[in-house]
Amino acid sequence: MKYIVTSALPYANGMLHVGHVAGAYLPADIFVRFLRLKGEDVVYICGTDEHGTPISISADKEGISPNDVVDRYHASIKEAFDGVGIEFDSFSGTARPPHHKLAQEFFLSLYEKKHIQSKSTQQFYCEHDKRYLPDRYVEGICPRCGATNASGDQCDKCGQIYDTITLVTPKCKICGNEPIIRDTVHWFLHLDSFREKIRDWLSTKEYWKENVRNFMLGLLEQGLIERSITRDLSWGVPVPLPDAEGKVLYVWFDAPIGYISSTIEWAAERGTPDLWKDYWLDPSTRLIHFIGKDNIIFHALIWPAMLMGQDQRYCLPYDIPANEFMNLEGQKISTSRNWAIWVDEFVKEFDGEYLRYYLAVNAPEKQDSDFSLNDFQLKINGDLNNTLGNLANRVFAFTHKNFQGNIVHCALDEASQQLLTDIDKLIEEIENGYADYQVKKNTRLIMDIARLGNKYFDERKPWMVIKEDKEAVNETLFVCYNILAKISVCLTPILPKHCRVLRQMMNLPESFSFGDAYGIAANCTVLNETRPLFSKLEDATIEAQILKLKQSQAVSNEQQSDNLPPEASKATITYDDFAKLDIRLAKVISAERIPKTENLLKLQVEIGDLKRELVAGIAQNYSPEELLGKTIVMLVNLEPKTIRGITSQGMILASHSDGKINLIVPDKGGVSGSTVK
Ligand code: 2FM
Ligand code: ZN
Repeated sequence: MKYIVTSALPYANGMLHVGHVAGAYLPADIFVRFLRLKGEDVVYICGTDEHGTPISISADKEGISPNDVVDRYHASIKEAFDGVGIEFDSFSGTARPPHHKLAQEFFLSLYEKKHIQSKSTQQFYCEHDKRYLPDRYVEGICPRCGATNASGDQCDKCGQIYDTITLVTPKCKICGNEPIIRDTVHWFLHLDSFREKIRDWLSTKEYWKENVRNFMLGLLEQGLIERSITRDLSWGVPVPLPDAEGKVLYVWFDAPIGYISSTIEWAAERGTPDLWKDYWLDPSTRLIHFIGKDNIIFHALIWPAMLMGQDQRYCLPYDIPANEFMNLEGQKISTSRNWAIWVDEFVKEFDGEYLRYYLAVNAPEKQDSDFSLNDFQLKINGDLNNTLGNLANRVFAFTHKNFQGNIVHCALDEASQQLLTDIDKLIEEIENGYADYQVKKNTRLIMDIARLGNKYFDERKPWMVIKEDKEAVNETLFVCYNILAKISVCLTPILPKHCRVLRQMMNLPESFSFGDAYGIAANCTVLNETRPLFSKLEDATIEAQILKLKQSQAVSNEQQSDNLPPEASKATITYDDFAKLDIRLAKVISAERIPKTENLLKLQVEIGDLKRELVAGIAQNYSPEELLGKTIVMLVNLEPKTIRGITSQGMILASHSDGKINLIVPDKGGVSGSTVK
């Protein structure tokens, strides 16, 4: 049996937080490691999702190109995955040329079969910014569930997608104005022409998780409408038709194709360019997509339809295990409010496998779960240290001390045999659990095995028995040694590195797998040098993390709040601090828009005799014309910064409220170069 396992392609415009890892990555990585332990043939695929409005919005905000955003985040996302031991076979990106080519082929294949057709349609258009407002460029109230902050393409609360112009009280995300509705031509995927095929295919998916199946049955009941799959944007895969200038494919049309293009890249890199076909073009391949619950519709409806409409016979998704969300300390994780634990930072302070363990214990499989730092400490100290670590430490210490590390095979009494049989039943349950993505339950079962081991050790009292019956103690240790060997297999998908170390200390082969875990798993051993497997997390370390989390949120609140009430204002500074600021009146002598940005102007100013150039993010509120000749207030001795290739030497001062920028100007005029204090 061949498997393609995928994790949702993360957008290349932000870092990974623990909620991401808990949803679509760790469960997939654990599943893949399980399959490999079973000797299955599996390729694990991911990459960054590099198109879409979130990326062009970030680029606009920072005054850099979307490609720069993508390059920066692709590398750092990969590093975060490495830190937490998520090991893809391929981690590609959708802005790469082979992906563009394949996405265009997908489009054309559907177009030629008339599954895609163009029509004149209506879109939000911002008269202020003179542009269409696709997807995340517009925000309003969800027409389906009434949630606020729904974007043009999808509501993050209910997961539904809808026709953009049905968004209630829409607002342009760039300038905050209400957009108008304008005609534009777009291409639509006619899902209804796949209705029967989708229905038949779904009827074979009774084994799917309930959340995914129910969501899909609900959609089918509502009826399959046509979906717009193109956008008026410059960033994306160009629509491969002659009359499609300025149109790109909708990010959700091209993104899942990334699973294939990433596999193609993998095959080419290992020198077997056709190997991807053995997986993707074999209808019996098990294609399994791990995703968060907000991605169900795209993977379970639109993507299968896209695959069905191709000339090549691609395999269809076999399963789509969608997870729920993970909250943080009782609140929704929020990137914009900086209420998040960032994986790259966390793994610098804690072992990445501690994070894996906690996210596994606390996996949001059937319902949302909560990440709490105190609970993290409790689980690492309680489960890993006091339960499993304790079993290993006491067995190893006792063996070294009394048997020079040497345990020999021996006959087992009834109680010992019964214990191993009971544990084997748990192992069977664990195997079934992994096959059914039940990682959370498995952590509990594995700790149950370790607890049984500790209980057995306590009951056999080897520290007393050693005085009169050394053979009986050898038996106790032999059984415990077997229990640890079994655990080293069961826990490998979750804690691969620690289990490898455990096996090395126990002189077990690296290839030890589920096939070896039943019955007498290991015959006898001379232990290698052993050391504690885990270390405890101190209260002070956890308290420092809690403080860090609260502080970073406080800083972000401060940065976001336009009108700080006086009681929430910044910390007091001395006059000397203030005197360091060189603030002057300056006269604008030239102003021009910086091409391909939403809000940046390049200004030349005169400060007395001095001329300076700077970049100001005020184009949404000021045109170059109205700035010419204006006397403004400027911080002159700010460290220069290069933005869009221009060295910005200073900052002009303005008030910010409700998204509006208001330049500060001298009340009664003033001479450029005068100091302001
Ligand atoms: O929701 C997201 O983060 C998307 N970037 C997931 C894409 S999954 C796939 F289709 F590529
Ligand atoms: Zn606007």
